[in-house]
Amino acid sequence: MKVLVVIGCQWGDEGKAKVIDHVFDSGYTDCDGVNYGGAKLVFRYQGGANAGHTQVTTDGKKIISHTVPSGVTRKGVYNLLMPGVVIIPDVLIGEIDGFNSSETVITPDNFGIGGRVGITLECHRLEDGWKGGSSINADLGTTKMGIGPTYTDRARRIGVNFAEFLNEDSFRRALDRNKEKSGRDFEIDRYLKMYAGYRNRLAPFLVDEADALDRYAGDIAIAEGAQGIMLDGENGSYPFVTPSSPVRLPVDASHRMGVVKAYTTRVGEGPMPTELGDPQQINTDRPDQRLTEEETRRALDGDELLMGRLLRLKGGEFGATTGRPRRCGWFDAALVRYAVKIGGIDNVVLTKLDVLSRIPKLQVCTKYELAGVPTGIPMDRFGWYGLEPVFEELPGWEGDIRSARMFGDLPKEGRGYVDFVEAAIGRHIDLISIGPKGEETIVRK
Ligand code: IMP
Repeated sequence: MKVLVVIGCQWGDEGKAKVIDHVFDSGYTDCDGVNYGGAKLVFRYQGGANAGHTQVTTDGKKIISHTVPSGVTRKGVYNLLMPGVVIIPDVLIGEIDGFNSSETVITPDNFGIGGRVGITLECHRLEDGWKGGSSINADLGTTKMGIGPTYTDRARRIGVNFAEFLNEDSFRRALDRNKEKSGRDFEIDRYLKMYAGYRNRLAPFLVDEADALDRYAGDIAIAEGAQGIMLDGENGSYPFVTPSSPVRLPVDASHRMGVVKAYTTRVGEGPMPTELGDPQQINTDRPDQRLTEEETRRALDGDELLMGRLLRLKGGEFGATTGRPRRCGWFDAALVRYAVKIGGIDNVVLTKLDVLSRIPKLQVCTKYELAGVPTGIPMDRFGWYGLEPVFEELPGWEGDIRSARMFGDLPKEGRGYVDFVEAAIGRHIDLISIGPKGEETIVRK
C-alpha cells in the first residue's frame, strides 16, 4: 500500500481537509511518481471528536465533522477509523446523520469503524469539563470532548473497545471493570440503556481493521492526521497537548506531507511565542465581526492586539469543534522547523496565504533567544516563558491573490514570502493554498 500521510505541523487547524480535497481533485504526485489522487482508502489513526473540520459535500452543503474521515464525500473511497482513534457514539451518529441529509450517504460500503477503536463514555466527557463538570485539565483549555480521560483509561487498560461496546455482555463486563478500577459511580444499567440505541445504529460499521487495511494492500491510501505536531502528546508543547500522536502511524508512510498555515494559530492554553495580543482579550470576537477602518489602520500601524484580531476575523479563525476564537500570531519558523524534523516531513503545503494580503509589513519568527542566546524548542515546559522570538520583517503585497494558479501569478512579495518561509523551515513548499476551494491552490514543483 502506498500511503500519503497528511500531518499538521503547528497547533492544529492548518487546513488538512482542504489539502486532501485538492489531492482528490487535482492529484498529487510524490518524488517516486505515485499519484495519490487515485486513493481508494482514507483512514484516521488518532484523535477523535476533538478534531473539527468543515467539509463541503458534493452538493455544496457545509457540514462540520469531527471523526468521519475526509474521503467520505468522494465516490468509491472507503473511510476507516483505525485503533488510536476514540469515538463518542452519539456525536458520531450526529455526524453520520448530517452527511446523510446531503448527497453524501454514509453506509458500511464507504465507512468502517475498527473493533479496537476506543469509546468515550459519558463519564469521560463529564470529567473533561463537559456540562460544567470539573476537570483536572481545565488549565489546558481542552475541547471537553472527553479525550484526556478516554486515553487515560486506555493506558490504564480499563477502557472499552468499539467491538465490546457492541456486545451487551462484553460491554457490561468492561463497564464493571472500569467502575471497579476507576472508582467512578456511574450506574451500569443506566449506561446500558442509554447506549442501546447507539449500539444498534453503529453496529453495521464494525470491521476488523487488519482485514480492512489488507483489502487495500495494493492500493493508494491517505492517512489523515488530526490536530498538529505541536499538540502531539509525545512531541508537542507538553503538557499543553492532546494525548494522541499525529506523528505515529500504524503503517509505513510512502510520503509525509506537512500542512502549515502562513501564520500561526492555537486554541486552548499553552505557550505561543509569536502570539499577537493578549489571549484573555479575544473571547468576545465573533466570526461575523469585521475591524473598522480605524482599527485596521491601527493594526497595520503596529497595534498587536488588533493585528491578531485582523488575522482572526479575516482568516475565520474560530474553532470548528468549540467555536472558540483561535489565538493568532505571526508565522513561527522556529516551531515549524522543529515539527518537520520530528514528523519526518518530506514536503510542505502552505495554507491560507491569501489571508496575509494587504498587510504591508509581515513578520516571520526565524529563531528563539533566551537572554540573548539562541535556543531551540524548549524541552522543559518552563523554558517557554521568557523566550524571545526573533523576527525578520518582510514586505507584504497589495490586492487579492485568490485567482493565482501558478507561482508566477503571485506578486513578487508573495513569492518572496513563500521563498523565505521555505528556507527558514528547511522543507520544500510544493503546494500553496490561497482560498478555501480545492481549486484555489498553486502547484509549485
Ligand atoms: P483535548 O484534545 O480536547 O484534550 O485538548 C487538548 C488541547 O488540544 C487543547 O488546547 C485543545 O484546544 C487542543 N486541540 C485538540 N484538538 C484540536 C484540533 O483539532 N485543533 C486545534 N486544537 C485542538
